[in-house]
Amino acid sequence: MNASETIVHGTDYYPEQWLEQPEILQRDGKLMIEAGINTVTLGVFAWSHLEPREGHYQLDWLDEAITRLGAASISTILATPSGARPPWMARAYPEVLRTREDGQRAAYGGRHNHCPTSPVYREKVAAMNEVLARRFAGRDEVTLWHISNEYQGTCYCPLCAAAFRRWLQEEHHDDLELLNRRWWSSFWSHRYTAWDQIEPPMTQGERHLHGQIIDWKRFVSHQISDFARHEVAAIRRHDALTPTTHNLMGLHHSLDSADLVREVDMVAGDIYPAWGLPPGSDDGMLHRIPEDGDVMRNYRFILAWYRGIAGGRPWLLMESTPGTTNWHPVGRLKRPGAHVLSSLAAIAGGAASVQYFQWRQGRGGWEQFHGSVIDHEGNRGRTFREVRELSAILAQMGDLGGVAAGQRINPAAVVLDTPNRWMIEQASGPRNDGRRDPVETAMRHHAAVEDRGLTADVIPAGALLSRDALAARQVIVLPMTAHLPEGSATTLRQWVYQGGTLVVTYFSGIFDRWQRLEEGGYPAGLTGLLGVRVEERDQLAVGEAVPLLWDGRDAPGSTPEGISGATIRGAGREYCDILRVEVQEVPGDDGEVEIVARYGGEFYAGTPAITRRSYGAGYAWYLACRLDTDALSELYHRVLPESSAPPSPPGIHRMVRPGREYTWEFYFNPTETAVTWHPGFIASDNANDLPPILYRGRAGQDGSLTLDSWGSAVVRSSQ
Ligand code: GLA
Ligand code: ZN
Repeated sequence: MNASETIVHGTDYYPEQWLEQPEILQRDGKLMIEAGINTVTLGVFAWSHLEPREGHYQLDWLDEAITRLGAASISTILATPSGARPPWMARAYPEVLRTREDGQRAAYGGRHNHCPTSPVYREKVAAMNEVLARRFAGRDEVTLWHISNEYQGTCYCPLCAAAFRRWLQEEHHDDLELLNRRWWSSFWSHRYTAWDQIEPPMTQGERHLHGQIIDWKRFVSHQISDFARHEVAAIRRHDALTPTTHNLMGLHHSLDSADLVREVDMVAGDIYPAWGLPPGSDDGMLHRIPEDGDVMRNYRFILAWYRGIAGGRPWLLMESTPGTTNWHPVGRLKRPGAHVLSSLAAIAGGAASVQYFQWRQGRGGWEQFHGSVIDHEGNRGRTFREVRELSAILAQMGDLGGVAAGQRINPAAVVLDTPNRWMIEQASGPRNDGRRDPVETAMRHHAAVEDRGLTADVIPAGALLSRDALAARQVIVLPMTAHLPEGSATTLRQWVYQGGTLVVTYFSGIFDRWQRLEEGGYPAGLTGLLGVRVEERDQLAVGEAVPLLWDGRDAPGSTPEGISGATIRGAGREYCDILRVEVQEVPGDDGEVEIVARYGGEFYAGTPAITRRSYGAGYAWYLACRLDTDALSELYHRVLPESSAPPSPPGIHRMVRPGREYTWEFYFNPTETAVTWHPGFIASDNANDLPPILYRGRAGQDGSLTLDSWGSAVVRSSQ
């Protein structure tokens, strides 16, 4: 794709489901133009139409679709079909099917369930990809290769088990003793004395040796990424130029997306927010809707996750639904305005596109109730009309367009790391009540930082090793970063010294790469910088709370009564570390440790709950306990005292994205009621600013702005 200034407005399209009705295919093209669709994704799951019999390829129907749409200026993103395979292949080569965790080989069916190791499947995929690349390389209509679809899952077949052992040998330098040490295998008599004794952790097998399970998960991620590399290599044999992408699945973590994205040129992601569903329901992005029902909070986090995984480069919103899904707890329709809001928020979050699953509803199959731009009969319904209205808005956003636009590192970052999630999830203790919540913790901190007006990316821990990327950040949060990659404590310390603000929470710096407990005190590698050390870890039951005393003036260890001038605000919950303040010698050390808040209860009353160490030109904060909403907001008022966000009313979300010429501010009302307020911008008299784009919104004579339920406002000010 070139750096065109058009925002991609696209859709997954399955002409192969309608080949017997050519008049429908003709009409689809016309309706797409009417809706303002400029790109289609073709070929996802089309294998049985591309190779109906082994070795007999049939690409004319695809070529016709590409050509016909291309003539109407609709580009094609062309998928490789490996996400699902035809029945003939499974019958002839059962090894292409996946083996389940209980060791049973799956029967033919479904999708996203191949073995990533099977030499036969790799051979078939390479042949298919080569056939596609040979035919379509160099075609102007084809702008991007979409490698497979939503890679995921795990195969436990003997081929995968053997590949695991080979991977282990490499990972542990062919040294079984080293592996035994790293896995702490003397526990429960697990010492391995030959490589072939090692099995994948299966339902009826190993489930307690963390090092082994972590290595297996890393292997699975490696093997799927290797499969992706194999797919790309086949394309590259005939097409050296067209970039590649793969659509990630949000917070899905059967593999580490940070591994996978290295295999493609551009990051793409799918998002299906469950707008309007009640707290606690699945948010459609693999998390749960928070207590206050704010789906937008989670959505902004996923947008930030894609930004972070993309390293600050534009990424594609490869799939979203123009209507409902067929798999949310209930198929609540998007309320009028919600589609425009949802799509504009993706653009505000860094997306270079708004794309859909799917164009036309299929008449049959598992997704027959899934929303689509037009229904199975091709009616232009309400959804179609909103898609068309969105097109008109996107057409005014060329300043943000261009998929090859440069890299942008935002001022803040919150770490969310996949191996870290694996470790926290599989640990036994320190709490087993379903409230470990590393993702929820990261989301709460992310929202608290963005509320202070700083755009925060969500980054994998590996990104902490890049000094250049760190240099552009002002604030970095490590929320429950139990495992920090080797070397990152040093880069972080140097970055703080240069002026960075680091926030580290409880349950950070606990594990090494194989989930052994770290040595040298917690949080590992950071005790010197923070000037504190965790002595004990208390866990409170859900509902219990320890009040927090802010700004007391006495020395640590005082009783609450002895702390003068303290204000009570908010509380600590669930996780409560007991700290010892200990200023160690660190290079360039000059900073004091300030006790910002203390516990106001429990046997550790009076001891530090939040500390701040000044170091060089920066600050390092330690947060010993999980904060309730009040305390979290108080914390970030102190961490980021100069908010750049103009105050907006409750429920209104503000997002900012710099464009080439303008700064773009977005205001969204994802609530069920209209909101009116006086934002300064409506009254702006800067002649170079463009008038705001309002959707379900009105500007009043008095400088007020009303956003109806699901209304959006887009403000462009010249920089
Ligand atoms: C995923 C898949 C699509 C489709 C949608 C439905 O994102 O990639 O093929 O199944 O879900 O929401
Ligand atoms: Zn396998």
